[in-house]
Amino acid sequence: MESVQSDVAIVGAGGAGLRAAIALAQSDPKLRIALISKVYPMRSHTCAAEGGAAGVIKPDDSLEHHFNDTVGGGDWLCDQDAVDYLVQEAPKELIQLEHWGCPWSREPDGSVAVRPFGGMKKQRTWFAADKSGFHILHTLFQTSLQFASIERFDEYYVTELLVHEGRCAGVVAIEMRSGQMRRFDARALIIAGGGAGRMFPFTTNGAIKTGDGMALAYRAGVALKDMEFVQYHPTGLPSTGTLLTEACRGEGGVLLNKNGRRFLQDYGMGPETPLGKPVFKTMELGPRDRVSQAFWQEQKKGNMMPTQWGDAMLLDMRHLGEKTINERLPLVRDMSISYMGVDPVTDPVPVRPVVHYMMGGIDTDTRAATRLPGLFAAGECACVSINGANRLGSNSLTELLVFGRRAALSALEYVKAGAAPVNEGARAALATAAQGRLRELMQRSGSGETVAGLRKEMMQTMEQNAGIYRTSEGLTEACAKLSELRRRYARIELHDKTNVYNTDLLQALELGSMLDCAEAVTQSALARQESRGAHQRLDFTARDDVKFLRHSLALYAQNEPPRIDYRDVVITRSQPGVRDYSGGGGK
Ligand code: FUM
Repeated sequence: MESVQSDVAIVGAGGAGLRAAIALAQSDPKLRIALISKVYPMRSHTCAAEGGAAGVIKPDDSLEHHFNDTVGGGDWLCDQDAVDYLVQEAPKELIQLEHWGCPWSREPDGSVAVRPFGGMKKQRTWFAADKSGFHILHTLFQTSLQFASIERFDEYYVTELLVHEGRCAGVVAIEMRSGQMRRFDARALIIAGGGAGRMFPFTTNGAIKTGDGMALAYRAGVALKDMEFVQYHPTGLPSTGTLLTEACRGEGGVLLNKNGRRFLQDYGMGPETPLGKPVFKTMELGPRDRVSQAFWQEQKKGNMMPTQWGDAMLLDMRHLGEKTINERLPLVRDMSISYMGVDPVTDPVPVRPVVHYMMGGIDTDTRAATRLPGLFAAGECACVSINGANRLGSNSLTELLVFGRRAALSALEYVKAGAAPVNEGARAALATAAQGRLRELMQRSGSGETVAGLRKEMMQTMEQNAGIYRTSEGLTEACAKLSELRRRYARIELHDKTNVYNTDLLQALELGSMLDCAEAVTQSALARQESRGAHQRLDFTARDDVKFLRHSLALYAQNEPPRIDYRDVVITRSQPGVRDYSGGGGK
């Protein structure tokens, strides 16, 4: 098998992967960097982010405010040393992007504009209209092109890590254009492969977000941390699941039930605020977990509006006026018209909660290092953990920049420390074994198990049993179903056995990743007998700091469910308190 030599390989070329590649190339021009991606970098999901990236920049804000909003928003499950690092580095990273050409929106005086976002006490979300992710990704991609030392491998699907004697030594990947396998030798590896929202049927996530990076690390023995915490974004379009950014509410949009009532005041997020004047940390600027939970409660009361796509609430932006909508929310207007036939200038837009983000992921420390020497991770696939039980909107773009760079610096330190390379014989043997497993998958026949069939059953199970509110009964059923699906997956049969752009093969591999991640979600959720942030149990309704102020760690087992272990949360100065979004000025 052909091999590619590099000092550091990066899996994933979205925001975190590109940021890491740039940091490596800038640190040492002699480094050989292999940037491996399932898609052309500009098709990475960072592109779909809309609302913006959080970082303290205005004089009335402070790092302490950003820290407190993040830790309280995360229901005290964040590691506070990691949050400190995030908030300190955030402004530097956002200014760096500015210097690389990111067209941040401006105040009339020419300074960078910021907007309010949910769960935050101050305006600190930098934005580029409502196409922030596109502009960030574009800026990073064009910056990366300056460096000859970054060698790109677009449209390669990584199937396995090369792990020898307890160290990571690279990956094996399929070049999708030819179907050929390549071995990527690397002295350090960074996984930046994004989230796994596609295990659910209704999600803002692009089709590529299938948890491949998480599954690679997990199968190699690295724990998946806090996987039970799956974020629902309150405002997706019911027709497609497409995101309507939280910035709609940051700019002053309001949420109405079918009776025209601003229902969030009935769920501890009141009192009602003046129309068009959002008030920090309350009503429509409450945190995502609480706002999505209020939708669920309203549905139970019959207060949602039936639409041809199911029940929905209304997002009313009419009072913002056409000029503001065109200037601040042009994509929102376009998408509402294209996908719903509704113009937000003249009519409220139907919306409903939609799976958006995984707080959990590959267990990393504040250096973005995993417990497998030589392996680092950053971005949504990683859990460092700055998001705890509920991420605040606009912290994730910041996270991928801050920890993308951090992963690069840590990988570089590791390479410079000079661990002896894994010998050629061992690498070749690992790659040949990986190739054998793939060949076996391609040749299997006779079972009738299909990718589409299993994927549909997985998605239905996740939606029914691992959604906004959960029960022991539902989660037990989901765990049993996922064990069954994993067994059946071992017999899956491909219809297409050819080599060139074999999407049947690609989707089979992606399904394998999603099943592993889904099982980590449901097993961790079943074990967490409390309600915290985005994990709400109808049978354990209170937060239980005595038993569960701990990170869950799902440890992979080949033919059985993962073992769930726990680790203490790092608390430096903010003791767990009551999350108060009533407008009373609480934490
Ligand atoms: O609503 C949004 O624009 C999403 C932002 C985020 O998830 O950080």
